[in-house]
Amino acid sequence: MSFAHLLSILLLASSTLAKTVTYDFSVTWTKGNPDGQYERKVIGINGQWPIPQIDVDLGDRLVINFHNGLPDQDSSLHFHGLFQNGTTFMDGPAMVSQCPVPPGMNITYDFIVDQPGTYWYHSHVKGQYPDGIRGAFIVHDPQGPYKNSYDAEIILTLSDWYHEQMPVLAKRFISYLNPTGAEPVPQSALMNDSQNITLAVKPGKTYMVRMVNMAAFAAQYVWFEEHTMKVIEIDGIYTEPMDADMLYLTAAQRVSVLITTKNDTSKNYAFMGSMDQDLFDKVPDGLNPNVTGWLSYNSNAPLPAALPVPEFKPLDDMLLIPYSRIPLLPPADLTVTLNVTMSNLGDGANYAFFNGLTYVRPQVPTLFTALSVGDAATNPLVYGRDTVPHILPHMQIIDIVVNNQDPGKHPFHLHGHVFQTIFRSSDDAGNFEGHLESEYPKVPMIRDTILAPPGGHVVLRFRADNPGVWLFHCHLEWHLLSGLVTTFIEAPMELQRNTTIPENHRALCVKRGILMEGNAVGRKGKDVLDLRGENRSPDPLPEGFTARGIVALAGSTVTAILGMGAVVWYGGAQVPGEI
Ligand code: C2O
Repeated sequence: MSFAHLLSILLLASSTLAKTVTYDFSVTWTKGNPDGQYERKVIGINGQWPIPQIDVDLGDRLVINFHNGLPDQDSSLHFHGLFQNGTTFMDGPAMVSQCPVPPGMNITYDFIVDQPGTYWYHSHVKGQYPDGIRGAFIVHDPQGPYKNSYDAEIILTLSDWYHEQMPVLAKRFISYLNPTGAEPVPQSALMNDSQNITLAVKPGKTYMVRMVNMAAFAAQYVWFEEHTMKVIEIDGIYTEPMDADMLYLTAAQRVSVLITTKNDTSKNYAFMGSMDQDLFDKVPDGLNPNVTGWLSYNSNAPLPAALPVPEFKPLDDMLLIPYSRIPLLPPADLTVTLNVTMSNLGDGANYAFFNGLTYVRPQVPTLFTALSVGDAATNPLVYGRDTVPHILPHMQIIDIVVNNQDPGKHPFHLHGHVFQTIFRSSDDAGNFEGHLESEYPKVPMIRDTILAPPGGHVVLRFRADNPGVWLFHCHLEWHLLSGLVTTFIEAPMELQRNTTIPENHRALCVKRGILMEGNAVGRKGKDVLDLRGENRSPDPLPEGFTARGIVALAGSTVTAILGMGAVVWYGGAQVPGEI
């Protein structure tokens, strides 16, 4: 057989391996009662909730025909952790890389999945996903390094649950009546969108347990009684195996572990999730932060009550080493420093800020601006002040420094990339003031969502090798609403050469009357730097009117007077966030 012949057979073989996986998703209201305490309206898919898990094999093409069957809300889908290299317009956040999908309209998400591992998908419109539109997305890897190390896979989603709907909670959260910005506390913790689940296991086997925290807000501690977890993947990155008795997953993080079962089937064992109550400003009376499940060896044996743990001591994810052993990237060409603060604006509500700016969606989706303003695309001004834009030049090494000046914990997520987590300070260590390259690990951990310590900082490094428009934001859904979001416009000139927005994406903008060209307000040509009329956050508090004053006023009868004032000051203000 000639070499060319052999090659053509091989090519044929590989092209027949990658297949197209198609899902038809119609998003609709349905009912759910996952904690058994309260039945409520939830957002389901094809009349079903929990929504389906997406399963593909590495290299597959995924096509999702998405119909927004909600009569009263826009929607969209984001595929959390996928790079969308070459398909930034498939990334999902409304007014960033697409127009929102209005009721009754369709969009097709169509891309090649070329990363293995554990992901999830969720709506990226307003604060929508905690109402139910969040699910696991698994990319199976027949050639993965651990493929011979386990007998079966188990998917374990973690989440939190509210009895009220997000639009109601959001309105209460961003309000002068909530001047301290206290986030709504969930009523329950869930596993696999339920509670008290049993996972049937066989003795003497090894299971790969893929965990995804799909919460709106709560991080969870997770442990399996009398079973050790061996971590092998985080956020789609295979790791060197590392044993752990307890894990901590922030909202949006994923961890896969190997668990080997006992040889004896006489007993069943509890596993536990416990919400991190440090996140809650005030723990409501009677809150049960825990959710329990059981490894069921024997369906006739009892399900023992879970034992309390003396303290939470989870594995430090900074200790993990990627299986690829990719070394520390070279020193940064560009450092983006982001100072996180929270305070009140003139409408009396509490907002979150990067470098004093709180995100407000533009009038033209940022990607559409980047594609339509020519050379001006490298000027951050064209995207609008309150999209908090940063331009990342093609192929440069970028350091993101997050100085968390807030006393709360924040899980930060970058779209379009994973990053090396090269430094995380202790709590209250203050701002980054420079570190020596020699202080950084030689082989840093890599992931896509990282916990920033209260009062401390993290340093993240990646190469800008994926032209696109990518958000970097806190993945506490409340903080998306309060504006803790920045927009990275990566390699806009390269993007202009290689991007065509599909017709069905453009049709959504037409339907909504959203402009598809020009700067953040739709001006082009010689007017491209004219941003008059851009969407802006509320102005600062009036002189002499302190946030403390608002806190003192709230809850007293004077609140009503301030409320009237707020209406007068900001009758026509934009609603911030909305992505
Ligand atoms: Cu789960 Cu903006 O992402």
